Amino acid sequence: MVQYPLSELQPGMIVASDVFTPQGQLIVSCGTYLSQQMIQHMRYYHIKTVTILPNEVTPVSKDARPHEEPSYARRIRQSQEFTAFREQYTQSAGIFQAQLQDFVRGNSPLDTQALLEDTITLFRHNQATFSLLDMLHNMRDLDDSTYVHSINVSVIARLIGVWSEMGEEDLDTLTLCGLLHDIGKVKIPQEIIGKPDRLTAEEYAIMKQHTVFGYELLAHEDIDVRIKNAALMHHERYDGTGYPFGLVGERIDTFASIIAIADVYDALTADRCYRAGVCPFEVIAIFESNGLHEYNPHFILTFLEHIAGTYTGYGVRLSDGSTGKLVMINQHRLTRPLIQLDNGDFVDLTKRLDLYVEELI
Ligand SMILES: [Fe+2]
Ligand SMILES: [Fe+2]
Repeated sequence: MVQYPLSELQPGMIVASDVFTPQGQLIVSCGTYLSQQMIQHMRYYHIKTVTILPNEVTPVSKDARPHEEPSYARRIRQSQEFTAFREQYTQSAGIFQAQLQDFVRGNSPLDTQALLEDTITLFRHNQATFSLLDMLHNMRDLDDSTYVHSINVSVIARLIGVWSEMGEEDLDTLTLCGLLHDIGKVKIPQEIIGKPDRLTAEEYAIMKQHTVFGYELLAHEDIDVRIKNAALMHHERYDGTGYPFGLVGERIDTFASIIAIADVYDALTADRCYRAGVCPFEVIAIFESNGLHEYNPHFILTFLEHIAGTYTGYGVRLSDGSTGKLVMINQHRLTRPLIQLDNGDFVDLTKRLDLYVEELI
């Protein structure tokens, strides 16, 4: 492994160890192929040197296989639609960050209308070709800040609201719930927020307080009570295993329970292992194996069914390498759809438990 000064970095080099901002936030993870944009990003953060893998070493992590990147993800990234989305997203994230910092510093009251404007634009910006969730996945190299996470959660939550046939007013409130759910994190020390390793029990106890801090920050604002509750209760779990109170079932504000789903989904797909070409069926499988009882049953089913349903007619590669088309989703086993292979044969994945959908192509 060789340490390179930033000025000597070239796109295509493979990063050999995680790169952090001076505040301790991960910006490029180990095993990533450098892009011009990442190099610029590191320049922005005044990163001085980066450890690079020698050419002959073949990386094994999923992030580091751009040549095997699913062509579906590549098509998204190369589309005009995505370029426009990315531009709008970056702009929204900057404005959002400034608005929130102003509010937290006490410089200005919370202007929910202004907060909403950009996120909704982002939402409307999306055309029908690619799903909004896929666009979000492909934004992953941008940043991992709480601001970006909050925008993602607001967009995902609004989608769940749309899929649940909510009215415009509720959709707006739900969007604000997403934007402000983690606002309490501004009161958590940066060493804890940006810590790349596992938190100690003591640090975790402090981290958990962001829910109460968030509620306190919003308590006196003239905003819908569900926004305050979402900040307080988005880590509560339907089965009572959440925090800060361990509330059970319907005692958790409905909007907070939607934010909980969007929050976990975003955290899951932000995980380094899934950054390149996240497979939606894998995400559904992880949700299922972690236990759906943690979430409001109505909304988690609506969410997962819609995610799965989005991909009917799409090309897929199965775990044995064969390729085909997704013909039909099985409502009872969302991760096990019916596939028609390229040779015309049908494969019912509910009967072929040895196979699974590995990626969209
Ligand atoms: Fe949170
Ligand atoms: Fe969150």
